[in-house]
Amino acid sequence: QITEREMIEEIKRLKKEKNAIILAHNYQIPEIQEIADIVGDSLKLSQEAAKTSADIIVLSGVHFMAESVKILSPEKKVLLPVYDAGCPMADMIDVEKLKIFKQQYPNIPVVCYVNSSAEVKGESDICCTSSNALKIVKSLKSDRVLFIPDKNLGSYIAKQLPEKEVISWEGFCITHHRVKPGEIDAVKQKHPEALVLVHPECTPEVVERADFVGSTSQIIQYATEGENKTYVIGTEMGVLHKLRKSNPDKTFYLLSPALVCFNMKKTTLRDVYLALQNEEKEIVVEEEVRKKALKALETMINIC
Ligand code: 13P
Ligand code: SF4
Repeated sequence: QITEREMIEEIKRLKKEKNAIILAHNYQIPEIQEIADIVGDSLKLSQEAAKTSADIIVLSGVHFMAESVKILSPEKKVLLPVYDAGCPMADMIDVEKLKIFKQQYPNIPVVCYVNSSAEVKGESDICCTSSNALKIVKSLKSDRVLFIPDKNLGSYIAKQLPEKEVISWEGFCITHHRVKPGEIDAVKQKHPEALVLVHPECTPEVVERADFVGSTSQIIQYATEGENKTYVIGTEMGVLHKLRKSNPDKTFYLLSPALVCFNMKKTTLRDVYLALQNEEKEIVVEEEVRKKALKALETMINIC
């Protein structure tokens, strides 16, 4: 049985030998963040996928992220170490449901949060991530947009851009949705000196009580550059690793013990090692679907 230390050395060696890189989402476990070449939010991971010269990309995260990488880099081998690490929100809409939604509201552009399948992206006009959603919706000429699948991000956009009518699908992130507004009230009483930073996948009642709203990387950047010494973090607990490592002089609390994404926590260092060693758990996207989804992703990337 190979030890963790040996596994880390092997991963490093295999990366060189196979010209591979590891992209990891900010929610991955610390051991994986440490071995990754790039750790970032959904936008950063897709931007890096679009420009890397590696032959193999190991995406440590969930299925839609690896699929986006494959859509942007079809000639590369894209591996998702745990094949059934999915996103329940992405599964809350499919192409049939989207087609009915579009028929209900004809001639309105569809903005698709990247937490969605390749097929759904292919039926949408443009993608967005949590870090660029406002910019993307603002960039559209239409004053009405259909937003899928996250109703909470949709509601955040609608509040920030009152000039737009945002018609949202009813999906949500099961992890962020669990945070209760009362948890913010309680933490503000307990730590009045702290700033509360939340992800826009939280409910509107939580978002309106926060001091800052942003993507995982925007939260990390805000707390790292900020002068305040104490922060309460309202997104998945994986971000605490980078926050604490880069800011040893600051204190971070997790807003709610419910902020653990079970799917993001499925991947272990051993899974990454095995995927890279055996070049297994490869992501395949059918070419017709890929081309359509690519349009929506590229339209986003060209704006950001
Ligand atoms: P970001 O990476 O855009 O912050 O989104 C968080 C998320 O829930 C990804 O699944
Ligand atoms: Fe999906 Fe939420 Fe987990 Fe992100 S945190 S992968 S949106 S369930």
